[in-house]
Amino acid sequence: MTQPTIRFDGQVAVVTGAGNGLGRAYALALAARGAKVVVNDLGGSVAGAGGSSTAADAVVAEIKAAGGEAVANYASVSDKAGAKSIIDTAVSTFGTVDIVINNAGILRDKSFAKMELADFELVVGVHLLGAAYVTHAAWPLLREKGYGRVLMTTSSAGLYGNFGQANYAAAKLGLVGLAKSLALEGGKAGIKVNAIAPVAVTRLSEGVMPPGAAEKLSPEAVTPAVLYLASKECAVTGQVIVAGAGHFYRSETVESVGTVLGADALTPEAFADALPKVTDLTGATPFPGGAMEAVARVFG
Ligand SMILES: NC(=O)c1ccc[n+]([C@@H]2O[C@H](COP(=O)([O-])OP(=O)(O)OC[C@H]3O[C@@H](n4cnc5c(N)ncnc54)[C@H](O)[C@@H]3O)[C@@H](O)[C@H]2O)c1
Repeated sequence: MTQPTIRFDGQVAVVTGAGNGLGRAYALALAARGAKVVVNDLGGSVAGAGGSSTAADAVVAEIKAAGGEAVANYASVSDKAGAKSIIDTAVSTFGTVDIVINNAGILRDKSFAKMELADFELVVGVHLLGAAYVTHAAWPLLREKGYGRVLMTTSSAGLYGNFGQANYAAAKLGLVGLAKSLALEGGKAGIKVNAIAPVAVTRLSEGVMPPGAAEKLSPEAVTPAVLYLASKECAVTGQVIVAGAGHFYRSETVESVGTVLGADALTPEAFADALPKVTDLTGATPFPGGAMEAVARVFG
């Protein structure tokens, strides 16, 4: 076992949805390594109904019992004023914010044919808008101090699609675009923004996980990647890391080598003939410099 050299002493971390599951594990691990933690949680059901201070309070009590520092916040990330209050809690209690982990989430799974648009809006509101609201409130502080670590929580549902989760998948891939754009905008100010795609058995996922998976797929098996991405040692930005059961992968959006059709061959038939080349991912490339790097390819 390597010696724990990655520490968060003197740093303030905000973890949204930290009253249960993954967020709770992140909050406990950050506090154990010296961070002062804002434990935000609305305390609702998996579907986002209800609310109570119990979930956040229990995690704060756990951190304090282990000798750490933490404060609870019960606001909903999807409420603009509530999201700002989470960052305000960090500043008024601990004086600043260094780390923002956008983790709060709910599910309203249904096939698209049966899905009410209200359920689409609610899920996008919590995951995508919630992360944007919380990060937007922290952004000026991070820019001013010239340091920050921001994490978005995406999902394989968003990266690759999932039956019955059109709302969730749309929100989760939106978070990748948000992370990659903020990585570009925050780079000069010392702010690193990455995304985690966790796989763990929690109350959110227990219905879709195979029986007996809980032991291997613990939230604690995701935590190493999250703590590294939240640390000053973090050497990457704009990346998506998949983490579960001790497996860690990078997921990336790439373009194929593809082909170029000449001006005299700009027909759907020529495109059909070229399709195997267009879709072949051998030698595919990512664009760490962002969209402009990709667009420049088209201009030659
Ligand atoms: N568990 C997995 O395998 C998995 C896979 C991919 C992505 N994720 C994502 O990881 C994150 C954490 O999920 P989890 O599995 O730990 O679920 P969880 O239900 O155990 O924890 C989510 C927490 O977020 C809180 N929350 C919900 N809405 C909120 C709001 N509006 N404001 C503040 N808090 C709110 C809930 O009260 C809950 O405590 C979610 O974003 C989820 O989509 C989980």
